[in-house]
Amino acid sequence: MSSLISRRLIGGVFRFGHLRSLHSSSVWSGKVVQFKLSDIGEGIAEVQLKEWHVKTGDRVSQFDNLCDVQSDKASVTITSRYDGVIKRLYYKVDDVAPVGKALVDIELEGEGEDSAESVDDDKSAQSAAADKSKKADGGKSSDEHETSSSFALHSGKVLATPAVRRIAMENKIKLGEVSGSGKNGRVMKEDVLRFLGHIGPAETTSKASDQSRPAFAPLSGQDKTIPIRGYTRIMMKTMTQANTIPHFGYNDEVVVNRLIDLRAQLKKLASEKGTKMSYMPLFIKAASLALTQYPVLNASLDSSLENITYKSAHNICVAMDTPGGLVVPNIKHCEQRNLWEIALELNRLQEAGKRQQLDRNDLADGTFTLSNIGAIGGTYASPVIFPPQVAIGALGKIEVHPRYDHHMQIYPAHLVKVSWAADHRVIDGATMARFSNVWKEYLENPALMIAEMR
Ligand code: COA
Repeated sequence: MSSLISRRLIGGVFRFGHLRSLHSSSVWSGKVVQFKLSDIGEGIAEVQLKEWHVKTGDRVSQFDNLCDVQSDKASVTITSRYDGVIKRLYYKVDDVAPVGKALVDIELEGEGEDSAESVDDDKSAQSAAADKSKKADGGKSSDEHETSSSFALHSGKVLATPAVRRIAMENKIKLGEVSGSGKNGRVMKEDVLRFLGHIGPAETTSKASDQSRPAFAPLSGQDKTIPIRGYTRIMMKTMTQANTIPHFGYNDEVVVNRLIDLRAQLKKLASEKGTKMSYMPLFIKAASLALTQYPVLNASLDSSLENITYKSAHNICVAMDTPGGLVVPNIKHCEQRNLWEIALELNRLQEAGKRQQLDRNDLADGTFTLSNIGAIGGTYASPVIFPPQVAIGALGKIEVHPRYDHHMQIYPAHLVKVSWAADHRVIDGATMARFSNVWKEYLENPALMIAEMR
């Protein structure tokens, strides 16, 4: 049942509390109904209220617009299922409305559904909705606001405009029994009139394509909807924000033969230092040294887009794959730390990440990000900037490829590919390329990096 409900809701239609049978006759006049934001599927746990179309005291009819809401998937207009008077709006514009919580109270006018259902019983609301949607489709009117009609086609939901639904309702017919001739089986006005015998039969239109469409049953199990929580919830919010940033991409390859030799030496000493030495501390230190020359990449942009703040600290974030999902803690003051100190801190963060015990401070105030996706695999990536930062780099896996040396001799080059992304509102391509060249120089000739260390 739950999968049925979520699939019916997944197309972007929000349903509230209880569906109402339009054929019932018990009187609800004066009763206050609390509409709740029902489960809308796809793991969406909350929506942001964008605009109210009504205010307290307004009289509304079924199908009248109540408000517009925004989820991370779609913008949707919520319509009333009842005739009545708005008694209470639970949210202000820009508030976040959680699924399952009340959105609006309406004092009913006229006739309502059989009062066997409690209007305030959240738990029974969804099963009631599903039951009723099986029995009859009358009165469900949000189709005009659907964002995914193709999904609705597969979910068995009857597609029709509110006007068509109203005709069906007035004539007490169930839309589910009317054969729809519109796109994706949408029930048109003519279909209803034909069903009522008011107009003649339609020209024969082949439904072969519909009939030939195979019915797919799930191979195993049921769809599962879970709320987005933890690190993934943070990722959802920051990446939604990041989507507003115009990204500039720049890729290069770095020959890391010498770096590999250096790392091998350091790795032998690492246990004495009580840490491990991967390539990351070297990538991070090289980035910090390059940021000293190009501080605009270690900056943040304010929300009004009026100011850019050059950060004095190089708090370099490291994208981390953890059992709880992606998380991006940062190593504070890399500009003041040597390689061992960076390695120690990276190890600490990695261990805390594994246990999902990163401190709030570990996650705050990052100024620049590196993502070593190569630790998992792959060559290139398209990293997404971590706002309010302005640049990020993604590193691929170190691989051996043939390359020419200065004497045009082929040699086995250990290469790491880097993919940079910068906020093109404040970083131009030339700056990104120059920064990358400096970073690359430190990694290809790590003696230069060592020389710069304090
Ligand atoms: N190429 C080749 N080898 C690599 C490598 C690369 N790009 N990155 C790591 N390695 C090696 C390390 O040197 C280490 O080898 P060792 O055992 O000989 O010392 C081994 O792989 C394991 O490294 P790891 O424990 O992953 O440490 P790290 O310091 O290299 O990386 C993290 C730490 C946190 C960055 C990494 O574990 C991680 O989570 N990466 C995924 C980031 C991600 O998901 N990005 C996507 C964001 S959308």
